[in-house]
Amino acid sequence: MLRDEMITVFGGSGFIGRYVVRELARQGYRVRVATRRPNLAYELKPMGVPGQIQLAQANLRNKASVARAVEGASGVVNLVGILYESGGQTFSGLQERGARTVAETASEAGVKTLVHISAIGADPDSPSQYGQTKARGERAVREAFDGATVLRPSIVFGAEDAFFNKFADMARFAPALPLIGGGKTRFQPVFVGDVAEAAVKALFDPAAAGRTYELGGPSVYTFKQLMEFILRTIRRRRLLLPVPFPAAGALGLLGEIAGKLPFVQPFLTRDQVELLKSDNVVGATDEGHPTLADLGIDAETIESVVPSYLIRYRKGGQFADKDYETVRETRA
Ligand SMILES: NC(=O)c1ccc[n+]([C@@H]2O[C@H](COP(=O)([O-])OP(=O)(O)OC[C@H]3O[C@@H](n4cnc5c(N)ncnc54)[C@H](OP(=O)(O)O)[C@@H]3O)[C@@H](O)[C@H]2O)c1
Repeated sequence: MLRDEMITVFGGSGFIGRYVVRELARQGYRVRVATRRPNLAYELKPMGVPGQIQLAQANLRNKASVARAVEGASGVVNLVGILYESGGQTFSGLQERGARTVAETASEAGVKTLVHISAIGADPDSPSQYGQTKARGERAVREAFDGATVLRPSIVFGAEDAFFNKFADMARFAPALPLIGGGKTRFQPVFVGDVAEAAVKALFDPAAAGRTYELGGPSVYTFKQLMEFILRTIRRRRLLLPVPFPAAGALGLLGEIAGKLPFVQPFLTRDQVELLKSDNVVGATDEGHPTLADLGIDAETIESVVPSYLIRYRKGGQFADKDYETVRETRA
């Protein structure tokens, strides 16, 4: 049975957003996915029963469209964020002013509960624009919406992620994988399903109101260990090439120039290199935040999930372990 409550999800068409929408739908909530291009988000509708998932046109840079998207909602999740600036999409425009617009508008509309997705590394003193604007966005959300919950994930993994897939794909063609800054930066990868579950729990758990959670998986790995894990999983041998930070900065500049070409995404930016200078683990910036365990979530490991979708980067894909005759019999 459908519940009466309607939840608006900004960024519901994105990687993490799709899992949040699916989890809300699974629990019977009505969901309004706010996206700039609803015509490209029809694939979300089958995640619920007919009529359960609506699509609404909204851009965080246009307050009237945000107001229309939150009208009648009892809860809001805001997942909008960018990893690099392009066109009119700026870090401060989306992650700071856009975050404030959502929180203010939700408060004015009488929305009861707001979950804002930030990131580990949110720090007003961060050397990166991404980290600074995430911190200023959190502050703006707290000022505008009483009792908002902030979630800060480490890097997020899942079938459509942009980290494990990117380096596994690179390893198919490149003779070496780069170890930015020597590969010593530490990460605590967290499963996208766990982040989605946390977002939905935080919406409805009164104990979560006003708190900032840091979301990490069960283990911490260096960048180098993650590259080794990817290569082991896809059964490829590649050189791991240390790239000192100054050289990585130059690569980042090249990436930004490439990103100016039509339909090309920058493979690296100088801002991302700045981010890589700090560990991306729970408690890295300031300690004492509640975590997934405080929401009663038992975090998945990369070992139990990532091989299931990196298998396609092996030579032979899912048939890598089978001999030709067995494959032919299975297909017959
Ligand atoms: N992925 C990670 O590893 C990771 C780690 C830590 C934190 N986070 C944070 O988690 C959030 C979600 O990340 P993600 O990986 O799911 O990102 P994503 O796949 O890039 O999705 C971003 C979403 O933002 C929406 N969006 C972009 N510009 C917008 C605008 N002007 N107005 C309205 N919506 C806009 C996009 O929707 P349309 O294009 O359909 O409008 C898209 O749904 C972000 O805030 C990110 O910083 C992610």
